[in-house]
Amino acid sequence: MEILLKLLSDAQSSLFVLFHKTWAYHWNIVGSDFTQLHQLFGEQYNTMFEEIDRISEHMRYLNIKPLSSLSRMLEVTKIQGSPSSTGATEMLQELLSNNIKFIELMQEISEESEEQKQYATTNLAQDLMESHGKFVWKLRSHLQY
Ligand SMILES: [Fe+2]
Repeated sequence: MEILLKLLSDAQSSLFVLFHKTWAYHWNIVGSDFTQLHQLFGEQYNTMFEEIDRISEHMRYLNIKPLSSLSRMLEVTKIQGSPSSTGATEMLQELLSNNIKFIELMQEISEESEEQKQYATTNLAQDLMESHGKFVWKLRSHLQY
C-alpha cells in the first residue's frame, strides 16, 4: 500500500503543476491561433481542476491526506514546475510531453492498484488516462500542419 500512496501523492502534485501551467498558458498565449489555443487550454485547465478534486478526495477515501502545501508539491512533482515557454509551438510541445508523462504516472498507479486489488483506484487512474489521452490528441493535432 505504501508504494501506491506515494504514487498517488506524486500524481496529485504533478496534476496540480500541470493545471497551473496550462492555466498560465491560457492567459499568455499570443499569435494567429490565439482564440483556438486560448480555448483549448481553457478547456483543459477546467477539466484538471475537477480531476485534482477527484484525486484528492479519493486519497481521503483511502485514509491519506493529500498534499496541501504548494512548496511541498513543487518538491515531489514529476512534472517540471515553472511555465517558461513563450511561443505557441513551444507551449504545445511542453504541454504535450507533460501530459504524456502524466499518463505514464496513471499507468503505474493502474498497475500497482490492480495488483493490490484497489480497483476503485484503478478505475480512477484509467479515467484520467483516457482524459489526458484526449488532451494529447488535441495538442498533437495542433502541432501537425
Ligand atoms: Fe479564462
